[in-house]
Amino acid sequence: MDWADFGVDLHLELDASGGRRAGLERALREAIRDGRLPPATRLPATRTLATELGLSRGTVSAAYDQLVAEGWLVARIGAGTEVSPLRRAAPAPVPPPPGAAPFRYDLRPGSPDVGHFPVTAWLRATRRALAVAPADAYGYGDPRGRPELRSALAGYLGRARGVLAAPERIVVTTGYVQALVLLTTVLRDAGTPVVAMEDPGLSFHREVVRRHGGTVLPLPVDERGARTDLLGSGRLARVGAAVVTPAHQFPTGVTLHPARRHALTDWARTTGGLVVEDDYDGEFRYDRQPVGAVQGTAPEQVAYVGTAAKTLGPALRLAWLVLPARLVDPVVDAKRHLDLHTETIGQLALADLIGTHGYDRQIRTVRRRYRQRRDLLLDRLWRWPGLGGIPAGLHATLHLPPDGPTEAEVLAAAAARGLALGGLAPHRHHPEGQPGGLVVGYARPPSHAYPAAVDLLAEVLATADRR
Ligand SMILES: Cc1ncc(COP(=O)(O)O)c(C=O)c1O
Repeated sequence: MDWADFGVDLHLELDASGGRRAGLERALREAIRDGRLPPATRLPATRTLATELGLSRGTVSAAYDQLVAEGWLVARIGAGTEVSPLRRAAPAPVPPPPGAAPFRYDLRPGSPDVGHFPVTAWLRATRRALAVAPADAYGYGDPRGRPELRSALAGYLGRARGVLAAPERIVVTTGYVQALVLLTTVLRDAGTPVVAMEDPGLSFHREVVRRHGGTVLPLPVDERGARTDLLGSGRLARVGAAVVTPAHQFPTGVTLHPARRHALTDWARTTGGLVVEDDYDGEFRYDRQPVGAVQGTAPEQVAYVGTAAKTLGPALRLAWLVLPARLVDPVVDAKRHLDLHTETIGQLALADLIGTHGYDRQIRTVRRRYRQRRDLLLDRLWRWPGLGGIPAGLHATLHLPPDGPTEAEVLAAAAARGLALGGLAPHRHHPEGQPGGLVVGYARPPSHAYPAAVDLLAEVLATADRR
């Protein structure tokens, strides 16, 4: 609907899958959160909006009441309903590189749509969790994390990811990045500091390993995923651990081939090496059931790491390690000496969210939305033969043909049109002379900006190709 009459131009997309009222509430919250409905904006009268949207007046009225109760809206007697003037404005646009035009759209990988954070469900979970939390929850706690969360995670991970996770084997960490720090520290102290990391892979994580005393060796990636068949021989003979993203390799998007999964666990069993399984977006699979974690087939060889960064939001800084028995004490000791334990209130809220199945509901909801985005990307880019990594995750890769525009040229052309994109080169251990590619993070933009962002991407590619 068009709200030009009310001084704002707003398009509301109603997803009525959880009921019409809930759909309207969601659409309004999203519009307020991403700044399309700025603070103090007057909303249409319930009767007007009901007619525009084909809803009953009672439905619109109930949605307004709910959002007033939650603090999104305020009702002014005799003056209608408006967006709370206390809500913060939308964040500033992505800062561009010096001298470049500001980005209008951001399709870089690494972030979900943070506008999908389930604010209401999280508030309810926090309220419920704190209402029943014992007093000791507010004191210093176990370095492994709250028992409520570890036991909720044990159930969830077994059911949803095929992970064999007893609560005593779980350590809650401040993001995946801290799990990597803890494991690197323990490996270094045990005298096995050499770590094989996927090439290409996230360069930030390589740097984290190096800064904590690890030595990084490249583990090549091909169309079957990480070359785990190379572990244990040649340059990779002295490796103490291999860090992999089996469900959806970052950044190529390949799922680790069954033969490579076997090679990985065989290597770990025969050499005593450790597999670090980074399951950062394993919940997002679109063509069939998510692929189960490698950990389920080799729990004494694999340190499994999951995170709430993609399912809920990176801001929570909540992740979880499931450890082989031999690593529990050293990792707990490292965690204690790093920060005692991860903060407790968020852990209690997450435990409640998982226990009441709100976490599953959130995953189902966002999976459906990301699937629609993935489908739109496919629809717009089907002409590009190099599109890969699309059955899962929140990003796809576009390999560029050797006789076409280079990666740097496409990124510059996109930036000039106000579109931020990711390239493959920064993820390579040695980018020189390697084929170029784009990494398209289709989850990041707010929903209302996504179709235009993808259209612009298609245009940039078509133009760059015709040079
Ligand atoms: C490959 C990979 N692993 C893990 C993560 C999650 O990291 P964290 O839990 O520290 O936010 C990300 C997030 O972008 C990622 O891209």
